[in-house]
Amino acid sequence: MGCFGSSKKSSKRSERNHHKDASKIRKTLAGTSDQTQLCSDSTKVSPYRDVNNEGGVVVGKEEDQLALDVKGLNLDDQPAGKKAQTFTFEELKVATGNFRSDCFLGEGGFGKVFKGSLEKLDQVVAIKQLDRNGAQGIREFAVEVLTLSLADHPNLVKLIGFCAEGDQRLLVYEYMPLGSLEDHLHDLSFGKKPLDWNTRMKIAAGAARGLEYLHDRMKPPVIYRDLKCSNILLGEDYQPKLSDFGLAKVGPSGDNTHVSTRVMGTYGYCAPDYAMTGQLTFKSDIYSFGVVLLELITGRKAIDSTKDRKDQNLVGWARPLFKDRKNFPKMVDPLLQGQYPVRGLYQALAIAAMCVQEQPNMRPVVSDVVLALNFLAASKYDPNSPSSSSRRRNTSFHRDGDDEEKRPDLLKETESEVSS
Ligand SMILES: Nc1ncnc2c1ncn2[C@@H]1O[C@H](COP(=O)(O)OP(=O)(O)OP(=O)(O)O)[C@@H](O)[C@H]1O
Ligand SMILES: [Mg+2]
Repeated sequence: MGCFGSSKKSSKRSERNHHKDASKIRKTLAGTSDQTQLCSDSTKVSPYRDVNNEGGVVVGKEEDQLALDVKGLNLDDQPAGKKAQTFTFEELKVATGNFRSDCFLGEGGFGKVFKGSLEKLDQVVAIKQLDRNGAQGIREFAVEVLTLSLADHPNLVKLIGFCAEGDQRLLVYEYMPLGSLEDHLHDLSFGKKPLDWNTRMKIAAGAARGLEYLHDRMKPPVIYRDLKCSNILLGEDYQPKLSDFGLAKVGPSGDNTHVSTRVMGTYGYCAPDYAMTGQLTFKSDIYSFGVVLLELITGRKAIDSTKDRKDQNLVGWARPLFKDRKNFPKMVDPLLQGQYPVRGLYQALAIAAMCVQEQPNMRPVVSDVVLALNFLAASKYDPNSPSSSSRRRNTSFHRDGDDEEKRPDLLKETESEVSS
């Protein structure tokens, strides 16, 4: 089986196929194919693992169907600018110098990721190769291709194409030169500069906008299910983009409030309500977002097994501290060396506290989080300004034409919380 060639089609045909693809993505993301979903790396939440006698991943009938779905999806009919291409394995081999070790970028549950250069597009790309013995399977491959083929947003990583040749499954993405947020937040190598406050807020706001696109603007709306620092990739200027949609699910429709599913995701990021009941809602993603925001503010990991048992889970550590704002300066990342706006810190922590609330209905909706974080990101902190000192309250925030009335409602709520 080879990859597909390209053909030119009319725009009418493209539109029709776009709808066809939307219905295909709905079926695939909503489908019962969770039964064949595989995920067993140590940090992932997954109650099942299907392996054959040789320890390899079982490719069930349903997965075969999904592979066919991907093949049947004529991505050449995508509207111009969103076209995902197909590549031969040979092309990707050449692009990575036969998957040379010096092209290796990292490895996750899907398999290894390599940097490559595609001659025909004159473009540097990141190529992810499905590990057939790995934790994630062909369903993830299909969902990733289908979701990203329909998505188009500056805060979602672009899928350039894929290869589904024989046993090989590879995904080709735009190359994100600064790697993942995790690389910039945790276990920094010697001499690597920690992220400053403004960059952290910019990343938080951009990631929230990506999530808002999935929840509120995609048709059908999508629950991401795998929001975490390693899935936030950074472009030039630290522009954040969400990646890895293999676990994405179509959100509830009609009067339904949730989707019932097998629990998947990553420990430390998974909402307690979802972990306990398997009922997935948009608020499950808001919880994961709150954990990421907490990581950005505190510099601590979602799960850190080097800490005392009671402090290993970031939310478990933070919850008692949220109760008294006097604790807030103690929560901030020491690598910021006191260079943050006090009011901004209080507001960012209050947003995170709302997102990780135990009760899903108490968590804010993504559009409110976006408004609040856009405001915080636009309020530039200048450590060199005489009024900018983490020791002086409420004086270290500057925003062009700052108007109290224009502050988003969520910030007004958090304000009353933090100053009460
Ligand atoms: N498009 C890309 N551009 C540049 N680097 C990338 C890209 N995609 C992935 N990487 C690098 O490869 C690493 C592994 O990514 P991958 O998504 O496979 O694993 P992960 O996010 O750590 O885990 P998971 O499988 O749970 O998502 C990332 O941490 C990142 O450093
Ligand atoms: Mg990832």
